[in-house]
Amino acid sequence: MTLVDEVKARSDIVQVISQYADLDTRSRTPKAPCPFHAERTPSFVVFPDTGTWRCFGACSTGGDVIAFVMRKENLQFGEALKHLADLAGIRYEPNERRGDYESLYKANEIAAAYFRALLNSPEGEAARSYLAGRGIDTEAAKRRGFGLSPSGIETLAGHLKARGIGAGAAKAAGLVRQGQDGGWHDMFRGRLTIEIRDRRGRIVGFGARSLDGSEPKYINSPRSSIFDKSSLLFGLNWAADGISASGTAVVVEGYMDAITAHEAGFDNTVASMGTAITAEQVGLVRGLASEVILALDSDVAGQAATRNSLESVWGAIQSHRRSSSAAGGPSTLEIRVATFDSGKDPDEVIRGDPSGDEWRASLKEAKPLLDYLLETVAGTYDLDTPDGKAQAAGELRPLINQVPNQYEQEAYLTRLAGLLGVSLEQLRMSAPRSTYRRRSPGPMDREPPGANDAAASALNPDSVNAPEDYLLAAVLQKPELREYAMGVSEEQFRDPVNRAVFTILKDSDTLEDAALSGVGDIADKIERLRNRALPPMDHREMVDAISDCVLRLHQRHIRTIKAEENRLLPTDGKALPDDPQQAAALAQRLVETNDRLQHLFARRS
Ligand code: UTP
Ligand code: MN
Repeated sequence: MTLVDEVKARSDIVQVISQYADLDTRSRTPKAPCPFHAERTPSFVVFPDTGTWRCFGACSTGGDVIAFVMRKENLQFGEALKHLADLAGIRYEPNERRGDYESLYKANEIAAAYFRALLNSPEGEAARSYLAGRGIDTEAAKRRGFGLSPSGIETLAGHLKARGIGAGAAKAAGLVRQGQDGGWHDMFRGRLTIEIRDRRGRIVGFGARSLDGSEPKYINSPRSSIFDKSSLLFGLNWAADGISASGTAVVVEGYMDAITAHEAGFDNTVASMGTAITAEQVGLVRGLASEVILALDSDVAGQAATRNSLESVWGAIQSHRRSSSAAGGPSTLEIRVATFDSGKDPDEVIRGDPSGDEWRASLKEAKPLLDYLLETVAGTYDLDTPDGKAQAAGELRPLINQVPNQYEQEAYLTRLAGLLGVSLEQLRMSAPRSTYRRRSPGPMDREPPGANDAAASALNPDSVNAPEDYLLAAVLQKPELREYAMGVSEEQFRDPVNRAVFTILKDSDTLEDAALSGVGDIADKIERLRNRALPPMDHREMVDAISDCVLRLHQRHIRTIKAEENRLLPTDGKALPDDPQQAAALAQRLVETNDRLQHLFARRS
């Protein structure tokens, strides 16, 4: 039995909750005014036989005893578990994994202090004047985490060693690497260093720019257990407040772009660090922003790689929108794209006009993502030829098909027809979108449409939690798919460990934070999910399979609520509760649940 199972089995949910709520325990389903919001009629119900609770009133949440304590005491999963274990007299030993990562953060802190000191030493003269030439004075250099890496071969390596950081940790943090001679060599030599911090301000890695024009321009920390470029946004530690205050996140590409923007007071700016933006990075600002503006360098704007990643961001956003509106969740992010005069990057635009007007104007003129894609894709093919038209249509129709609003979809189709110089009817009649898939048929194509079901059950056919497991395994193994899974809410996970894993995945800056939770059950589960064999599928099929899991979890969730509501209807002669207001509210809710369920099932067929 896992610790989580034991804690749940040995916690008396009625007793635990009665510490916080005035439960009327005369009924088999004790009720109370909801402890999470102010109300007069009791709409908070405990179901002792399933070990769950739900508020049928304003907050309409629910869960098990762990979820209750987390919410009520504002605790992390591990903390709530410990609290309940203590109450039930169960011995609790958080595991030691945390230590592994702490040593990497520590190595980075020591390296950063070393780099900073060197920048301020006589040896840093040239680097300081380079920065000054780019508008960064000593104070700004300090604020923005600049440093200078020594030019020797093993200078930092020696310093780390002297400070008690072993070669293992230094290597794991990506600060040193093994040279031909077997010795440990510094990763960055004679470069201007930039600290890369996660949202919480911990140094997870470094970018290091050459000062003498040598290539590559930047060397970055290699991917490590605490550093993954594609799931981080540079500058989010500075920008989180600015983003939530303005409701907009501006994503630039380069370190220097983000730094210049912040120095100029544009405090809602983050950088994607040169990798084409990922859906996962967009996901990092979900919850903070209602809008994301992607500020693209002019040299990458039309490139295929950029287009590809923008198309996948578009797909992720639409998938999220569909599932979150089906669950009655908040509407999702609006994505816009800003471009600049040829040859300029945001750093130059901002410094070129200290009033900030030019930068503001560019952001204001940013185009909705789909509009931008429509224009760039159309500009890529030779639309004078039937073949070019077909290719452009083949790339754009699937994107347009994902627009949730029918009228909006129609408007985009009309625009596409206009761009291609064909009639709307012609466009509609042209081959269905599946024949336009850009990749050529591969071995995976023999998988019939039922692949999703197979995917979900192949993991563990007996498990009622197959969709939960599949979703988590897919996201853990393919972090770039994370965004597609974010349409689910924590509450919809029935297994408390799965729920905790999902919460960590959702909130963490890097996936590896998951293992920092310090709870053995969670770490074990993550390990198992990581090692699980997933059926071979290409990206699109994976996305479909994940979306299917999301939908199933929604359906199951609503069915659960409906079953709970049914149980609240007294069977002893009376059809509805005494209180007429309560009776009316319950009846109304039953109708609504039915509607939502029907709506969800209609989408599956
Ligand atoms: P840029 O070439 O636009 O860099 O690449 P930048 O930040 O504007 O730098 P300056 O102004 O020339 O000093 C954008 C980002 O791509 C990544 C870095 O994160 C950089 O900030 N990049 C670029 C690399 O990782 N390696 C490279 O060799 C080049
Ligand atoms: Mn630049």
